[in-house]
Amino acid sequence: MKSFTPIPLLLLTLGSAALTVRDVQDGQMGTLMVLPPRQTDTGTKPIPDPAHPYIAPGPNDQRGPCPAMNTLANHGYVSRNGITTFEEIIIGAQEAFNFDQSLIAAMIAPNFLAHGNVFVNKISIGGVSEFVPPLPYNIDGPATLGIAKHGRVEGDASLSRSDAFIGDNRNFNQTIWNMNLEEIAQFADDGPDGPGTVVNLQTLIEIKRQNFESDQALNPQFDLPIRRYNAIFAAPAVAVAVFSNGTTNQLTKNILNSFIEHQTFPKNWFRAAAPVLPATAGAINAQIAAGLPQIFPGHNDANGVFVADPPAPVPFNTSVACASYWDQIANGTPGSLANTTGILKQNVDLLTGIMFSGSKCTESVAPAGPTYV
Ligand code: HEM
Ligand SMILES: *[C@@H]1O[C@H](CO)[C@@H](O)[C@H](O)[C@H]1NC(C)=O
Ligand SMILES: *[C@@H]1O[C@H](CO)[C@@H](O)[C@H](O)[C@H]1NC(C)=O
Ligand SMILES: *[C@@H]1O[C@H](CO)[C@@H](O)[C@H](O)[C@H]1NC(C)=O
Ligand SMILES: *[C@@H]1O[C@H](CO)[C@@H](O)[C@H](O)[C@H]1NC(C)=O
Repeated sequence: MKSFTPIPLLLLTLGSAALTVRDVQDGQMGTLMVLPPRQTDTGTKPIPDPAHPYIAPGPNDQRGPCPAMNTLANHGYVSRNGITTFEEIIIGAQEAFNFDQSLIAAMIAPNFLAHGNVFVNKISIGGVSEFVPPLPYNIDGPATLGIAKHGRVEGDASLSRSDAFIGDNRNFNQTIWNMNLEEIAQFADDGPDGPGTVVNLQTLIEIKRQNFESDQALNPQFDLPIRRYNAIFAAPAVAVAVFSNGTTNQLTKNILNSFIEHQTFPKNWFRAAAPVLPATAGAINAQIAAGLPQIFPGHNDANGVFVADPPAPVPFNTSVACASYWDQIANGTPGSLANTTGILKQNVDLLTGIMFSGSKCTESVAPAGPTYV
């Protein structure tokens, strides 16, 4: 009889069907991530439905810097305790925001690689949780830190949170939000809710200019690597694409206040009329960035002067999308994830593959960022 080979990859392939048996690493049981199907009901409808009422989070529920994840959790579109999975986020975001699967998967992937447990398929939408163990053998430190951890994804010049160096990077900051409301009052269009209430492109540009200028001046460690440069325009772009009222296509001050300050769906709100695709959000992202040529990938130097970063290496310097992909994986994903086996490797490959296919790069890159950060 042949002796048993102790390879940790325990996957039997039976024709096209793969039967996962068991993959235990460091006492944890791995769970294979699988892209759920696209939803078939793709039109607008009122959200939330009666099965998803707002319930304020309890003291042990995780909440963090993403107003959309907090909203999904406050309504039970993902687990109300703030500990969720790859599949649960995709299903919840398809249902509540009419996200196309490819866009929401691309938003989840860098976060899961950065601060989730990719082996057991669990992530905290806030900070450290007893329900999300460290990666097997502590290959990225003794705890899995959650999406609020500053550095790999969470960063400076946010819409509604402080820079980590200045203050609280996790919870809503009224002072910052009031500065955005002033830009809205000045630049937004008139609409059914009154004068200066319908957010347009110029309003978003002025808000991001204001966020950048204020944090660059206040934060001696202000840092905008290219992955973050891309993200500060992606956040408002995604907000326009999915927070806008699906029946009017308008993003109003009232809607923004509801999602970002109160982390709940607005009254009488309708999700988008058609699935929101990466290209839709990408086009708005590019328009906001084009309105702000004074902002570029860079960081504050020792004298508090904002200086440009060196460009991404060849062949990753061809576009912002490709350079951001390179930066996120080479610098914002723990290098220990390049050396994995079994279900852990399969999940890492799924997530890095999702990022590569959205990147417009000609070459892929392996995780190479610092660990234990
Ligand atoms: C469900 C659809 C989503 C939408 C509409 C959305 C939207 C947003 C917006 C508008 C912000 C900006 C907040 C600010 O700058 O103050 C933000 C921040 C953030 N989101 Fe999401 N997001 C979504 C999904 C996700 C997912 C799936 C994750 C991770 C699992 C995530 C992680 C984050 C993080 C870490 C931040 C903080 C970034 C920062 O430092 O500003 N988001 N998101
Ligand atoms: C809120 O933002 C203001 C302006 O940047 C800052 O001075 C203050 O410290 C922040 N508050 C918290 C709790 O982070
Ligand atoms: C969305 O549009 C509908 C139809 O015009 C309107 O009745 C509803 O009040 C709007 N909702 C919000 C939150 O603006
Ligand atoms: C990328 O960098 C190389 C080497 O510095 C340079 O020759 C090339 O023009 C750059 N490509 C772009 C699109 O900037
Ligand atoms: C890969 O991981 C194994 C097991 O954890 C370890 O023994 C080995 O040194 C690692 N190799 C590299 C190149 O990090």
